[in-house]
Amino acid sequence: MKQIIIEGGQTLTGTISISGAKNSAVALVPAAVLCDDLVEIENVPNISDIDALEEMLQYLGATVSRQTSSIHIDTHQIENKEIPENISKKLRASYYFMGALLGKYKKATMYFPGGCPIGARPINLHLKGFESLGAKVIEEGNKYTIVAETLKGAPIYLDTPSVGATINIMFAAVKALGTTVIENAAKEPEIVNVATMLNNMGARIRGAGTSKITIHGVEKLHGAYTEVIPDRIEAGTYIIAGALIGKNLEIHNIIPKHIESLISKLKEMQVDMKVFADRVVISKKDGLKPVHIKTLGYPGFPTDLQQPLTTLLTQCHGISSVEETIYENRFLNTNYLNDMGADITALDTEKITIKGPTKLKGKEVVATDLRAGACLVLAGLCADGITIVKDVEHVLRGYENIIEKLRQVGAKITLEEIK
Ligand code: EPU
Repeated sequence: MKQIIIEGGQTLTGTISISGAKNSAVALVPAAVLCDDLVEIENVPNISDIDALEEMLQYLGATVSRQTSSIHIDTHQIENKEIPENISKKLRASYYFMGALLGKYKKATMYFPGGCPIGARPINLHLKGFESLGAKVIEEGNKYTIVAETLKGAPIYLDTPSVGATINIMFAAVKALGTTVIENAAKEPEIVNVATMLNNMGARIRGAGTSKITIHGVEKLHGAYTEVIPDRIEAGTYIIAGALIGKNLEIHNIIPKHIESLISKLKEMQVDMKVFADRVVISKKDGLKPVHIKTLGYPGFPTDLQQPLTTLLTQCHGISSVEETIYENRFLNTNYLNDMGADITALDTEKITIKGPTKLKGKEVVATDLRAGACLVLAGLCADGITIVKDVEHVLRGYENIIEKLRQVGAKITLEEIK
């Protein structure tokens, strides 16, 4: 077990450079399975979710080597095997092996994926998509066998614009016979990153980044080189840190367009922030205005940033609100924030109000999930006294070198292993 210890109240100044996007990288790595060749991916974050995917690739017979921020995957020796439950449940993104193995071998056997406990997170849309392409899904408890004689392109309408289902259906459809059209597809930048990699491998995908994606099946995919886009959620988290306790804190290597919804909310709050082509400079300012947030698919406000932003809302003057429309259980951070001195009320399971400003005090808190953990680290950084964030394995799954990055700009923060 690991915990983070923070001595709050330090000013953050200097530069934080943003790593490659977790939610892109976790799809780009399994995509390598679709070819029998060499795939090189640059700007891959060094996080434990990538370690788990590396283990899955090695289990299937791939040769994987990692340098500082790049990963080389040789899939010549890969074999299609059932992926055991102890591997599948390590992370949510293990489900990308379903689409990738189905696309390549017309058969995939694995278990329900793991991931943060933020709601039910069903995979029915992934499975419905595979079935539309002609696959049969056999469910035995937690185990899924998805098998097809041939995969045939088809029109697929997603009831919800699911990121995972959109990517998984692309994986299954790239080598299908004929054309697949995904309507009501997710539009997240990570989808564009994945479609670009697949096209580099010889796929024919058009429309990624819009709600209609067209995939013309091809016979074979080959190796490719690709780069992971900057992590918009990591960027947003450190930008929020700058608004809380920064003094000219610079956040580099970002694509501001990918965080437009956050930037516009921060402007509404009257945060002291300058936005440049690929960086933001941000400082703490008193008298911030309250705002109302409603999470939505891209380009709406990302659910992954509502918990980190809630820490900043505790410092605004007046009543803010957060409405969570994507997950059923993404307010587990609020009880801990209240323990630290915040004044947050749950109106129902989907909506909270935050009355500010309130002084936060260091406490022992628990990272119940990845972004709840990020929220509590931010709270610890601006609280008086010592905060101990327990169960930070969740945080380390998604934020590369979080301790070093924060220390370098003046935070007093350490990671401790506890027995
Ligand atoms: N949904 C269904 N059926 C499905 C798939 C999704 O009902 O078959 C529902 C989900 O329950 C949820 C909504 O649709 O209510 C959206 O889920 P989506 O499939 O878009 O989420 P995901 O692909 O499982 C990815 C990220 C999440 C991020 C969401 C939304 C990965 C590995 N995870 O999840 O990241 O919150 O998209 O942007 O890419 C995080 O980084 O903290 C995180 C949770």
